[in-house]
Amino acid sequence: MRLPHPIPYQGSKRWIAKSLLHFFPKRIGTLFEPFAGSAAVTLAASHCESASSFQLSDINAPLMTLWNAIIESPESLVNDYERLWQQQHGREAEFFNEIRAEFNRTHKPHHFLFLLARCTKAAVRYNRKGEFNNSPDHRRKGTNPERVRESVLGAARLLKGRACVRACDYREAIQDAGPKDLVYMDPPYQGVSRERDQRYISGLSIEEFSDSLAELNRRKVPYIVSYDGQTGEKLHGETLPARLDLTRFEVVAGRSSTETLLGRSSVTVESVYFSHSLVCKLPTVPKNIMEDGNLPLFENAL
Ligand SMILES: C[S@@+](CC[C@H](N)C(=O)[O-])C[C@H]1O[C@@H](n2cnc3c(N)ncnc32)[C@H](O)[C@@H]1O
Repeated sequence: MRLPHPIPYQGSKRWIAKSLLHFFPKRIGTLFEPFAGSAAVTLAASHCESASSFQLSDINAPLMTLWNAIIESPESLVNDYERLWQQQHGREAEFFNEIRAEFNRTHKPHHFLFLLARCTKAAVRYNRKGEFNNSPDHRRKGTNPERVRESVLGAARLLKGRACVRACDYREAIQDAGPKDLVYMDPPYQGVSRERDQRYISGLSIEEFSDSLAELNRRKVPYIVSYDGQTGEKLHGETLPARLDLTRFEVVAGRSSTETLLGRSSVTVESVYFSHSLVCKLPTVPKNIMEDGNLPLFENAL
């Protein structure tokens, strides 16, 4: 079965989500995903029944309002999307700009879904006033309403009654996580998170993030962090500090779309860190998972 992926989102982890599930401990209480974005890992985990419940959160409040609509009122969300999609014909660019202005005033979830489906590279970009300012993709009309319906209803089926949705900072989101839970974290890329990051609504301090991981270690909460990567020869950002006692892996995530557009073909490698408490729960940490035809995962000792 194809996993539903209702929110087109630049930086989505849908390509590595299933590989990460190999390393989930059995019988997870709650899976926390505090940098949710399009929640690729939560959707895969729910599909595989890897956890009893899910805490989905992100600092981007309109995004979490959209998640709430996907889970609680999927039918009306897709009907509203379809109406917008039909109305755009013949005046696509102008219509996109009208909906973008309306979204910046009201933050309605169907407007956001339409903008994400229609904008260039499904990228969330904000101006200095915090307004969504990405432009329309002139080559496409946005995802067909039938496909959106299938994805939204599929995600609602996976998450209804099992997921709690919140708009908050990651530190607040993980406060209640305990040793029987698992936290999956995919913060904004380090290369862009020190300065104002146009792709996401908030930057992130690496020092504060490391302190939060140390606090999870102290509470023996198992966690996985996707953090920075490498495209071809280019390494984005530093590794997380050795004091955190993490095991780092590199997941080959596929070809970089930017590089492909530029005519170069580089492989994108994602760094994935496992906490010590997670590694202790796994019977063995496989060196790679190529045997089952899945993505290669290379251990890379810190
Ligand atoms: C790399 S994206 C996550 C993508 C996600 N894994 C997926 O599959 O789509 C990072 C997310 O972190 C969110 N974010 C940035 N700063 C945050 C913070 N301080 N607390 C919580 N979320 C934050 C951004 O809004 C963005 O959605």
